Amino acid sequence: MGNIIAIGIQWGDEGKGKIIDLLAPDMDVVARFQGGPNAGHTLMIGDNRTVLHHIPSGILHDRTLCVIGNGTVLDPEKLLAEIDGLVAGGIPVEQRLKISDRCQLIMPWHRQLDAAREGSKKGTLIGTTGCGIGPAYEDKAARRGIRLADLSGTHLDALVRGNMEYYNHLLVEYYHSSPVDPEAVRRVITQAQERLLALTCDVTLLLHAQRQKGASILFEGAQGSMLDLDHGTYPFVTSSNTTAGAALSGLGMGPGAVDQVLGIAKAYATRVGEGPFPTELYDGNGRQDPAGKQMADVGKEFGATTGRLRRTGWFDAAVIRHAVRINGITGLAITKLDVLDGMERVKIGTGYEVDDGGRKAVIDWIPSTAEAYARCQPVYHTMEGWSESTYGATDLQQLPEGAMRFLRKIEEVCGVPVVMLSTGPDRSHVIRLVPGFFA
Ligand code: GDP
Ligand code: IMO
Ligand code: MG
Repeated sequence: MGNIIAIGIQWGDEGKGKIIDLLAPDMDVVARFQGGPNAGHTLMIGDNRTVLHHIPSGILHDRTLCVIGNGTVLDPEKLLAEIDGLVAGGIPVEQRLKISDRCQLIMPWHRQLDAAREGSKKGTLIGTTGCGIGPAYEDKAARRGIRLADLSGTHLDALVRGNMEYYNHLLVEYYHSSPVDPEAVRRVITQAQERLLALTCDVTLLLHAQRQKGASILFEGAQGSMLDLDHGTYPFVTSSNTTAGAALSGLGMGPGAVDQVLGIAKAYATRVGEGPFPTELYDGNGRQDPAGKQMADVGKEFGATTGRLRRTGWFDAAVIRHAVRINGITGLAITKLDVLDGMERVKIGTGYEVDDGGRKAVIDWIPSTAEAYARCQPVYHTMEGWSESTYGATDLQQLPEGAMRFLRKIEEVCGVPVVMLSTGPDRSHVIRLVPGFFA
């Protein structure tokens, strides 16, 4: 097996956890490179549901080494709870997991600032997951963040004191909110020192040694390309680069380490939180289109981290082509095809109609501002749907002609082959279309 970057290419929640768990047995290492507890990756094995936030989606396999890279931000208490939950279920996490000592820590003040901002009228409401992701990445860029490696350093006390002084000023004076609880800070640091340091190492050295042994690595992305800090719908994005380039910087690897880039997308689209979504049909509130409601209900579109309702809409090929360009996607994994079963008509967004100085024009790229993107009107290719069930299909022969037409159209308008198709939440609900892709 070669090395594969597997990333979401819509607004997150594309089914990355399911696809990565499925690919993991053929890989030696599964490595997360960005994001933190904002991610919620669901793995369904029979009736057993596992939701992972920090821990890579290969953790259920006994011979897969799982790695958390320097590009991530870790919340020690949540990570430890995640480890304990898996251990209680019989998964020997500590034997399978290595964490970069260069990872940034999410401290209680980061969550407090995230909450204070989202609850305030100052600034733009993003609809974050409330995990403190933005503030933690801000501190990394500002060079005042605390990394796992700092937990055993003599400078730790001064670093913590400096941060608390800064955050207390910001929280109390600017946001009129409560100051940081020093007890909560001490607890987080002690727990991280006692339990996480034992799992840390220099991940770059580890991965390079693995490569020398001929190991294959699966790079696991969190969120999706439209939430990328540079290439997404800024400012309605997350605070890290979610795109393929970040897989390298987030683990300390070079471009030669990558053989394939797998783009994971739903057969429709969803978004949680604020921000433009041109093909949106349903938000459980003002928008109530029945096709969008079917996507939300049948697709059980509730956040795996926050439980929030996900907005739903048609598959948008302009979004996918954008992702193909910025990530160098070589193949698509299409998930949740079964959710569209029974629809009389299905649609694929192919571009956007915009007002170009009083004249209507059609574009097929993503405007740079959220404001301009919000004005885009989707142009659709409408097709007949299919009445038969595709749920759980494991062979192409089981798919109705309408579903095949839909998939062929996706390949045509996105310009990359569909190499995997997911037809249900379970690990077994899958069709591998291009076996050579993963060789
Ligand atoms: P991730 O963040 O990309 O890993 O995706 P999430 O786990 O947040 O959300 C995907 C949801 O869809 C989870 O509840 C999965 O169990 C479920 N899922 C994944 N693939 C399929 C599929 O092909 N069909 C159906 N019906 N559900 C799926
Ligand atoms: P996975 O890995 C879907 C969204 C939030 C919000 C924006 C910024 O499960 O696909 P943040 O807390 O990161 O500052 O929030 O990004 N968001 C996600 N949406 N799936 C995710 O992760 C997400 N992680 C963040 O809803 O709009
Ligand atoms: Mg998710």
